[in-house]
Amino acid sequence: MDSLEKSNTPSLDSYWMPFTANRQFKASPRMLVAASGMHYTDIDGNKVLDGTAGLWCVNAGHGRKEIATAVERQLTSLDYAPSFQMGHPIAFEFAERLAAVAPGVGDQRLDRIFYTGSGSESVDTALKIAIAYQRAIGQGTRTRLIGRERGYHGVGFGGISVGGLVNNRRVFPQLNGSDHLRHTHDLTRNAFVKGVPEHGAELADDLERLVALHGAETIAACIVEPVAGSTGVLLPPKGYLERLRAICDRHGILLIFDEVITGFGRLGANFATDLFGVLPDIVTTAKGLTNGVIPMGAVFTSRNVHDALMQGPEGQIELFHGYTYSGHPVACAAGLATLDVYMSEGLLTRAAHLESQWHDAIHSLKSAPNVIDIRTIGLVAGVELSPREGAIGARAYDVFVDCFKKGVLIRVTGDIIALSPPLIAEPEHFNTIVEVLGDALQKAA
Ligand SMILES: Cc1ncc(COP(=O)(O)O)c(C=O)c1O
Repeated sequence: MDSLEKSNTPSLDSYWMPFTANRQFKASPRMLVAASGMHYTDIDGNKVLDGTAGLWCVNAGHGRKEIATAVERQLTSLDYAPSFQMGHPIAFEFAERLAAVAPGVGDQRLDRIFYTGSGSESVDTALKIAIAYQRAIGQGTRTRLIGRERGYHGVGFGGISVGGLVNNRRVFPQLNGSDHLRHTHDLTRNAFVKGVPEHGAELADDLERLVALHGAETIAACIVEPVAGSTGVLLPPKGYLERLRAICDRHGILLIFDEVITGFGRLGANFATDLFGVLPDIVTTAKGLTNGVIPMGAVFTSRNVHDALMQGPEGQIELFHGYTYSGHPVACAAGLATLDVYMSEGLLTRAAHLESQWHDAIHSLKSAPNVIDIRTIGLVAGVELSPREGAIGARAYDVFVDCFKKGVLIRVTGDIIALSPPLIAEPEHFNTIVEVLGDALQKAA
């Protein structure tokens, strides 16, 4: 495509950008104007390899015609329809299709599906469903929500209450009574591991501590990311998730997996739930649900949770919760087309086939300057750097800017580089990422 003239760009003043150092960005902006396959094109016409699938969402790669066509067809037939006391077939069709690939196996699938507009909405929905479920089964004192240190569950008040990132929490009040498990990140025992680390299953027992502290009869649910992405790619130690499940069962606590990132093939299986063989009661999703092209989230619940709420007079609304855009027909069309692409190209399991090449490529950066850990699973990698003295995050930010200039988009959180290319990636893309990142690490030394 033609290079766009910088003079054509609009004023940068009015747009208050999310999770961005606005003044720093506007002084030296990075603008993307197009995307196709594995690449973005920036405003100067340079190709930028997408090492992050956008924000962990463009799993089938950019510019998929199949999805665009489905969206266009939907926009010109039924552009919007309300979902409160009304229905439209495509929302039911999408839910039926999702139910067939839902987390779990056979009749154990979490095949009751509530639509939202984003990951944050999915999390808050899941937390509310958990509390409503406990009340419906006569456990109304269970309103406490347990998250985990270093967890990220979006930016709603529910999500930040169970989330464990101080910058997302310190300014805002949180839900009364929420508490946190210790995180599982342990560089002394688990550095430079391919796949899940050996040590740390016992950290799940921290839930027993919280039960002893608060009383099980006050706890509705425990939410964790099976693999934490946004907080720097933190993997569950072997046996950890199983142990968490067992403790939840022992104490009547619902287990929620936040699969906003891990859902839809990121780890080489439909969901992390399937990969690890641990079935939670509720799974939250968004991002890859529609390949990121139309905002949408979905909460998958067990029939047990769903059916407990389908009680009382039939004319009564069972759950006082929902969004104007729940089941948006255009998002459903995008989701159906996305699912078709995933299925026809085997993308939900493709990461499993690419995994060893991906692991080897990324772990080749082990001896690059300031690298203190590399962790990989599916098509995800975390490269942790030692911080510059007194300037946490500065080194990784420099690496990010340098990589972008050299044509590779990476993501950084603190001093951790997170990589998650679209699931259509080929080994040659891994090589480019490693080459450019290796260079940038040298430069930032
Ligand atoms: C695990 C997890 N949960 C929730 C969210 C929030 O999703 P959204 O930004 O769509 O609200 C994210 C976003 O990165 C996430 O990684």
